[in-house]
Amino acid sequence: MTDLLLLPGDGIGPEVIAEVRKVARVLTPDLQIAERLFGGSSYDEHGVPLTEEALAAAKAAKAVLMGAVGGPKWANAPRDKRPEAGLLALRAGMEVFANLRPALCFNALADASSLKREVVEGLDFMIVRELTGGIYFGSPRFIEDVPTGGKRAVDTQVYTTAEIERVARVAFELARGRRNKVTSAEKSNVMDSGLLWRQVVTDLHARDYADVELEHILADNAAMQIVKNPKQFDVMVTDNLFGDILSDISAQLTGSLGMLPSAALGEAGKPGLYEPIHGSAPDIAGQGIANPLAAILSFEMALRWSLDQAEAADKLYAAVIKALDSGARTRDLGGALTTAQMGDAVIAAL
Ligand code: NAD
Ligand code: IPM
Ligand code: MN
Repeated sequence: MTDLLLLPGDGIGPEVIAEVRKVARVLTPDLQIAERLFGGSSYDEHGVPLTEEALAAAKAAKAVLMGAVGGPKWANAPRDKRPEAGLLALRAGMEVFANLRPALCFNALADASSLKREVVEGLDFMIVRELTGGIYFGSPRFIEDVPTGGKRAVDTQVYTTAEIERVARVAFELARGRRNKVTSAEKSNVMDSGLLWRQVVTDLHARDYADVELEHILADNAAMQIVKNPKQFDVMVTDNLFGDILSDISAQLTGSLGMLPSAALGEAGKPGLYEPIHGSAPDIAGQGIANPLAAILSFEMALRWSLDQAEAADKLYAAVIKALDSGARTRDLGGALTTAQMGDAVIAAL
């Protein structure tokens, strides 16, 4: 049985996943690793970004780790065949509805952020992004010609009570093991789905999680507060689109988008999907300079959450801190190391 299925993907995806392979060879040599094409590279070979066989392999593995997908090469592919559509199909197919995106500022990087050291030092903030619903998946969805000229494009945001409740439950459970506070972000002032979101979270809190502090915030204010004073937050739960945006903002608090890992989880016992939150970075792809730490830290999350290897995860986490403490920096962090040299620095620290 495959323990870990690697989906390197496109652009810098294969470059950062190569470093995960190197780390795994040293840290967990017995791990059964398999690999499939995914995204644009799958489209080029098979005509689709995610084959049925690859999805079946993902569902049969204990954990899936992807690099990144997409790029200008596929910008004009039909929308349902685009690399990003493959990623959405993978998330939906694996039913990984809760996306944990931790924004952690390592001490060694407190000066790498574009924000002041005192704002980000010691930051440990977790975004729980709903991942299989909302405007990413709602129907109807189309672009059509308008008789009077021009076109009309429609996307639909849909959330059900059950979808909101299950992701909010994950946030409350996580908060109990952390600083016991959940902030729920939506736009209940303008959106019906936001109104329902607030109601469902409020009800669930009263019913099952009254011991956890709950705060509601409008998503635009949340974006501002994350930059102004991120340390006020512990766990933030939000919908698919707001979670996408708020987690990129949070990434910059940690020094670089190249630092943020993520774990997408479904029902207990099902495989998790692990991915750096960054994309395929076409502007630096092929140069060997991408930061592999988001991918390596995503592997760390996979070891911890899906592969039952907490000890190896602890070792890897400590090695990343040691490498950063010793001054290892890729270009995005203000240094000069290549992707491979950063991987080597982590392995040396192991
Ligand atoms: P991006 O995350 O690829 O890049 C944004 C910026 O961050 C770029 O300047 C890039 O060089 C930099 N960056 C990202 N990761 C880095 C790393 N590991 N090390 C150093 N610098 C890094 O976002 P984008 O440019 O908006 O999107 C490019 C493509 O990636 C698009 O096709 C998009 O759809 C796709 N994308 C995929 C994923 C994913 O697969 N999970 C996530 C986001 C974007
Ligand atoms: C992410 C990405 C994806 C998203 C895209 C590539 C579909 O931006 O994982 O954050 O929007 O979810
Ligand atoms: Mn994103």
